[in-house]
Amino acid sequence: MPPIRVAIAGATGYAGEELIRLLLNHQHVRLTYLAASAKWERSTSVSEVFPRFAGRLDLPIESLDPARLAASADAVFLALPHGESMRLVPSLLKAGKRVIDLAGDFRLRDPSLYPQWYAFDHAAAEWLSRPEVVYGLSEFHREEIQRAKLIANPGCYATSVLLACLPLFAAKLVEGDQILVDAKSGFSGAGRKPELAADMAENLRPYKVNHHQHMPEITQEIHQMTGRTSRMAFVPQALSIERGLISTLFIKTRAPLEAVAEAYRVCYTPEGAPFVTVRVGSFPQLRDVVETNDCQIGLSYDAAMELLIVMSALDNLTKGAAGQAIQNFNLMHGFPETTALR
Ligand SMILES: NC(=O)c1ccc[n+]([C@@H]2O[C@H](COP(=O)([O-])OP(=O)(O)OC[C@H]3O[C@@H](n4cnc5c(N)ncnc54)[C@H](OP(=O)(O)O)[C@@H]3O)[C@@H](O)[C@H]2O)c1
Repeated sequence: MPPIRVAIAGATGYAGEELIRLLLNHQHVRLTYLAASAKWERSTSVSEVFPRFAGRLDLPIESLDPARLAASADAVFLALPHGESMRLVPSLLKAGKRVIDLAGDFRLRDPSLYPQWYAFDHAAAEWLSRPEVVYGLSEFHREEIQRAKLIANPGCYATSVLLACLPLFAAKLVEGDQILVDAKSGFSGAGRKPELAADMAENLRPYKVNHHQHMPEITQEIHQMTGRTSRMAFVPQALSIERGLISTLFIKTRAPLEAVAEAYRVCYTPEGAPFVTVRVGSFPQLRDVVETNDCQIGLSYDAAMELLIVMSALDNLTKGAAGQAIQNFNLMHGFPETTALR
């Protein structure tokens, strides 16, 4: 079988670099086009930007040209700031390309939510609710992803929170259908911003408390998968480390721990969810998951308080972005889900 020609838009960013790192190990992929913003007018080799790819990939970083993007590839990863991909996607889909969008542009089904959560009016609203557009939480949408033309790859916080709580909502174990989430991410979660990295030294910085743009995709997905109308409080914080993310969920439940553990077992079998592991009575650390596509979940239950504490750890750039995007690419193309990710 000839390799699939793959383009990456946003190749110089954190998620784009992680896509290149992982796709270089994919035996069915040939990278054909790497693009970024207009500042890359004069051709610069990818190995000048990322010396670690020297000798492994010989492509220039080009200023993004939508026509070249469509012509150069069969499948396209868009790792651009929010609001860019909605202008590119319709023509890519009409040209028959399969697209995986890492931004938030196609995650919400209701276009009226975009001004509030992303501060823009949606330019391709008619695509948001089409059946060929699928929210790419791989573990819960495997069959739709296989048929999808466009994957709206979930946000990093959303992935960690949803993998931690969907089994509980599905089993109707969440009292009041509400969750409290304290979440901490490495500073790469905000994109490549040198000034931010400097500001983060020896720091922990709360931001967008209770108005982070991942909140509506979390409640939307809980509703779509389980029919439950949930409410959440969400406290995201940036850490003075580059990558890795842990969400801690506080959930009221009267269910005994065995019922809780069974809810996870039903959702995450080793065959059906090769990247998700659940442990009872202990908690994951960042170093358990960084530079892997794994999401590790740990639980403990305080019976007196009827309170379940769930910690969900992943690498924001891998399972939270590029790794899950490749997992979805694998599902779309009929490759084993773990290809290039183990
Ligand atoms: N970082 C994460 O943990 C994470 C996790 C999940 C999802 N995501 C999503 O993935 C996307 C990329 O995130 P990131 O962290 O990789 O961001 P980033 O480090 O800021 O990279 C953005 C990329 O987009 C390019 N770009 C910016 N404006 C452009 C334009 N108008 N036309 C063409 N290229 C343009 C940049 O190129 P230049 O070099 O030319 O500026 C760079 O390659 C975002 O939507 C983000 O929300 C990120």
